[in-house]
Amino acid sequence: MQTITTVSELRSTLAKARDKRVGFVPTMGYLHDGHMALIEASRARCDLTVVSIFVNPTQFGPTEDLSTYPRDFLRDEKLCREAGVAIVFAPDAREVYPAQFETFLEPGELAKSLCGAFRPGHFRGVATVVCKLFNMVQPDIAFFGQKDFQQCAIVRRMVVDLNLPIEIVTVPTVREPDRLAMSSRNRYLNKEERQRALAISRGLFAAEAEFRAGERQCEKLIAIARQHLDGVDRLQYIEIVDSDTLEPALSPLRHPAALCAAAYVGSTRLIDNLILRPE
Ligand code: PAJ
Repeated sequence: MQTITTVSELRSTLAKARDKRVGFVPTMGYLHDGHMALIEASRARCDLTVVSIFVNPTQFGPTEDLSTYPRDFLRDEKLCREAGVAIVFAPDAREVYPAQFETFLEPGELAKSLCGAFRPGHFRGVATVVCKLFNMVQPDIAFFGQKDFQQCAIVRRMVVDLNLPIEIVTVPTVREPDRLAMSSRNRYLNKEERQRALAISRGLFAAEAEFRAGERQCEKLIAIARQHLDGVDRLQYIEIVDSDTLEPALSPLRHPAALCAAAYVGSTRLIDNLILRPE
């Protein structure tokens, strides 16, 4: 495995591998089993896997956790090596954003609802860095986690809108044994908060169980999820949206929809979602 920190070295290394199918897993590091599932998916479909580790400053708001975002590069490198990754690309901020950088990618309607409403500029930063990383790596396939459902939708839209010849694969959310969605931010939770954080997945799964039992009214499903979400400190949203447009889903549910929630537990913001698929 090679660790590369500059775009020029990345390009020259990948130039020798253009006959290979290149898989790409963009991350902000502090890897957990969710990230590892993306790497496994890439290894299964591709000849060579590139993992980027870059805590992207442009997707953090001024009061968000950029400076405290968890980092452990040596551990990440080891996990990647053991998982059969060919290249870890770990540029510093100056390599990605040269002085006087001023060209951003602006996602449209998809970025306005859900997390976009609470994190202004977040998806502009995500779309910009993902597009830049796509240009640097030029992968055949890129892998994203369903956990960040809105991010997946925006990236899928971006590759269509900008004619990027990249297949986007969405990998199901990996959960802890008690069903808390894995996240690098879970490490911010103390023991008591970790317990209360379970309210989010519990609410989503309770609503999903009702959906499976035949309930198709969005308001009823949301009300069920809400009952469980008491344990959180600040619920930002609990919504059912159309999987493709992210617009509020219509009752009765007839098309695949995503039940999405975001909430603070203590000072940690957590998100989760489940897909509801009417047969
Ligand atoms: P990060 O939060 O590090 O996540 C990297 C990838 O791992 C994303 O595609 C995310 O959806 C996926 N992921 C996170 N937790 C997961 C889980 N429990 N199960 C499955 N997949 C999971 O998302 C980002 O970084 C950044 O926004 C990035 C795309 C790298 C751009 O900076």
